[in-house]
Amino acid sequence: MLPGDLDHVFFAESGSVSVEIAMKMAIQFWINRGVSGRSKFVSFLGGYHGDTLATMTICDPEEGMHSLFAGVMPSQHVVALPRDADSEAALDALLADKGHEIAALIVEPRIQGAGGMLIHDDEVLRRLRAIADRHDVLLIFDEIFTGFGRTGDLFACQGAGVTPDIITLSKALTGGTLPLSAAVASRRVFEAFWSDDAGAALMHGPTYMANPLACAAAGASLDLFEAGGWKADVARIEAALRSGLEPCRQARGVVDVRTLGAIGVVEFEAAVDAGALCQRFAELGCWIRPMGKVVYLTPPFVTTDEELDRLTGAIQTVLGAPAAGR
Ligand SMILES: Cc1ncc(COP(=O)(O)O)c(C=O)c1O
Repeated sequence: MLPGDLDHVFFAESGSVSVEIAMKMAIQFWINRGVSGRSKFVSFLGGYHGDTLATMTICDPEEGMHSLFAGVMPSQHVVALPRDADSEAALDALLADKGHEIAALIVEPRIQGAGGMLIHDDEVLRRLRAIADRHDVLLIFDEIFTGFGRTGDLFACQGAGVTPDIITLSKALTGGTLPLSAAVASRRVFEAFWSDDAGAALMHGPTYMANPLACAAAGASLDLFEAGGWKADVARIEAALRSGLEPCRQARGVVDVRTLGAIGVVEFEAAVDAGALCQRFAELGCWIRPMGKVVYLTPPFVTTDEELDRLTGAIQTVLGAPAAGR
């Protein structure tokens, strides 16, 4: 299902923990290969990777959720995504200077979710792969949000034609029904741990890793993905979100409307009053939770056309957008 040789799976029980494991894997990959000092990470502005201690250090520090902890946790290199020649050169320069202390780059491919549903081109991911290879650092894709069809391809990395060294998965792994996550490593990463020396093993063993109930749910969810109907559903949802949200472009304070797979986003110039908006959506019978500057929809793939119409209609009504000719 996953591209390349990403076929060594380490299970855990939440997205944040799978990112912690990916970080530990990356650090120990270098230790096991006899390379010392590589314990830092490069992550990206706008990014979100979880709420546990280590994952907080690689989230966007300005994004707000973890500002209480600013200055308490060890700092990482949180920099601009290489969207253009200047930011690519800056990242290249950072790695030329600090590469000897970097274990891995970590990114949410195609769309940074909790940081504001910020979309970037696949070219950015190809640049990251090239930069990681050039400076011999690992590349981690956090596909906890994007994995399992959300962006229109089964995995964002597949769509972009880029294979990371480690990928993290959760959420739709069980169809969102039970907590389960995975950090999946490439053969190269796995082989750094393959040893008769017990000290080379990855020292992580959560009580509920691969717990049978969650794995049964994941098995059922993966069967649905293998059956293949999800792709048509994502295309159908994308079309409905695009036409249903487009009128919001005319609403007061809106600066952008965008869709990517089964993700629809209306962005405002400033943070919205999430509580007040949430209340108004609820009065229309919809649970829609705005976040920062965005009102967004990430519907399950079973959402019907009528339900999609109701959701986008509620957003139009609450934002005061011109009717969409429905
Ligand atoms: C990209 C990404 N990484 C990590 C996480 C953290 O996952 P969890 O909430 O299961 O700890 C999330 C959750 O929203 C996420 O979207």
